[in-house]
Amino acid sequence: MKVTAFNASGRKDGNTATLLKAVLGELEKEGIETELVQLAGTSIRGCRACYKCFENRDRRCSVNDDALNECIEKMLASDGIILGSPTYFANVSAEMKALIDRAGLVAKANGDMFRRKVGAAVVAVRRAGSIHAFNSINHFFLISQMIVPGSSYWNVGVGRNKGEVEQDGEGMATMKTLGGNMAWLLRRLHS
Ligand SMILES: Cc1cc2nc3c(=O)[nH]c(=O)nc-3n(C[C@H](O)[C@H](O)[C@H](O)COP(=O)(O)O)c2cc1C
Repeated sequence: MKVTAFNASGRKDGNTATLLKAVLGELEKEGIETELVQLAGTSIRGCRACYKCFENRDRRCSVNDDALNECIEKMLASDGIILGSPTYFANVSAEMKALIDRAGLVAKANGDMFRRKVGAAVVAVRRAGSIHAFNSINHFFLISQMIVPGSSYWNVGVGRNKGEVEQDGEGMATMKTLGGNMAWLLRRLHS
């Protein structure tokens, strides 16, 4: 079994990455293979609304000159998908929105191709807006017929500069509980 986490922060190895690594660490303890994909430095642009994915139905976006199709391939090869974003102006980052819009439309064009995979949202925030960002990601999972495990709080960690989120004890504990619950769910779905 494999879980892939996508970090859509504009900065590599920041607070979103720290939170994602905490979730992945728990999954690894349960013997689940993990991968962390950091989108910083890659380019993923928004959906062109060409609807060619509905003509081609080949599980790919027709725009083939950026990182999106590689992300889709990794999502398809995974049993669990974690989407991590910092809070930017009370919502997800532009990279996360582009990933959601394009992977989401390709999934719809191909019969809900992420159906019954397990999905979890993880959000880093300095002060406010994280729940809106959390909801944006969960809307993608739920309309894609994915299964979403919970934790002891919404999956949010508080911090501003790189590494500060480690001082948010409750946020870090929430990530560990999420990882444990995700592993529990994956084991039952695949037994
Ligand atoms: C463009 C931009 C917009 C931001 N907007 C918000 C915001 O609306 N609310 C908030 O609490 N923090 C906001 N922040 C702060 C980040 O969410 C916070 O620093 C987060 O920990 C960054 O995660 P990272 O280290 O993974 O990049 C913003 C940061 C940037 C760069």
